[in-house]
Amino acid sequence: MAELKTKYLGLEVKTPLVASASALSKKLDNVKEMEDAGLGAVVLYSLFEEEIIHESLALDHFLTRGSESFAEAITYFPDLGNYNTGPDKYLKMISNAKEAVDIPVIGSLNGISTGGWIKHAKLIEEAGADALELNMYFLPSDPKLTADELEKAQIELVKDIKKSIKVPLAVKLSPFYTSIPHFAGAVAAAGAKALVLFNRFYQPDLNITDLEVVPKLELSTSADLLLPMRWIAILYDRIHTDFALTSGVHTAEDIVKAIMAGASVAMTASALVKHGIRRASSLIEELAQWMNEYDYKSVDQMRGSLSQKKVAEPAAFERANYMKALTLFDNRIMYTG
Ligand SMILES: Cc1cc2nc3c(=O)[nH]c(=O)nc-3n(C[C@H](O)[C@H](O)[C@H](O)COP(=O)(O)O)c2cc1C
Repeated sequence: MAELKTKYLGLEVKTPLVASASALSKKLDNVKEMEDAGLGAVVLYSLFEEEIIHESLALDHFLTRGSESFAEAITYFPDLGNYNTGPDKYLKMISNAKEAVDIPVIGSLNGISTGGWIKHAKLIEEAGADALELNMYFLPSDPKLTADELEKAQIELVKDIKKSIKVPLAVKLSPFYTSIPHFAGAVAAAGAKALVLFNRFYQPDLNITDLEVVPKLELSTSADLLLPMRWIAILYDRIHTDFALTSGVHTAEDIVKAIMAGASVAMTASALVKHGIRRASSLIEELAQWMNEYDYKSVDQMRGSLSQKKVAEPAAFERANYMKALTLFDNRIMYTG
């Protein structure tokens, strides 16, 4: 039987499929089901910077100006509705999850600025999290903000958080950096033990009759795998961190591709939201079958075998692939139409 056990962030995981942060992990029963379904670890839904600041600012207004200004205070920040459950409940969720399951429980902080809110990294550690994932979800809209300023600020944030905790730190990145390898290297040097590629950016839509911008969350498909897979293949063995692939993991073959590109683990959210948490057990079963069929002894043996450094044609991950893809497509149009 193929060995599915491996390591991520120095933690032993019994399979290389990990639950990516999502609302599913807000329920303790779901976290238990994730363990039962064979997921190797769970990244809990995020605690947001806005949520922490929101709570402390609202409390501050309440204490200093009285309850009438409370409503005013809470309008300063986007209404998070029921999305999350607040910092205290979040910490409680971590300790409950730690008590309920044996798989590693990874806390998730979502924010972009340094400041008082990052003390929650330490609180997440104290609540029992085995590791912390920092999600730096940011979309710059200020034309005066340079890439250098933005990247420096993000590196400072990683350093500050790293300084405040002892458990391993993973950093979840967006694909929108001019030089991903350079930035990935800087994040690693700032103390990240793993890079989680990539954040899925949800593009708002326009409601043209109500004249409104409407938030939109589309679940992924396997086509979304290609972007993080390519970058992990390029970064593997160049940047010395673990990699977790998130975006587009829907089949056992997707997990194999993630590992062969160089990921320590493949993460999934959409597949579990779409088909239920039990889907994970069939993915893991199919992964083991696939490995047995192709005679792979372990996940560790597969890792990085199709990374850029290992493939016969490394340029296929770069511009050459663009030319080849276009030519193949052009030929198809010309000779089949
Ligand atoms: C319903 C839902 C909620 C999510 N919530 C979070 C979150 O709280 N924090 C976070 O870092 N990512 C969050 N994500 C992003 C996922 O962790 C994941 O990175 C992304 O969906 C890509 O993986 P997928 O293709 O398997 O969905 C969420 C995704 C979904 C679908």
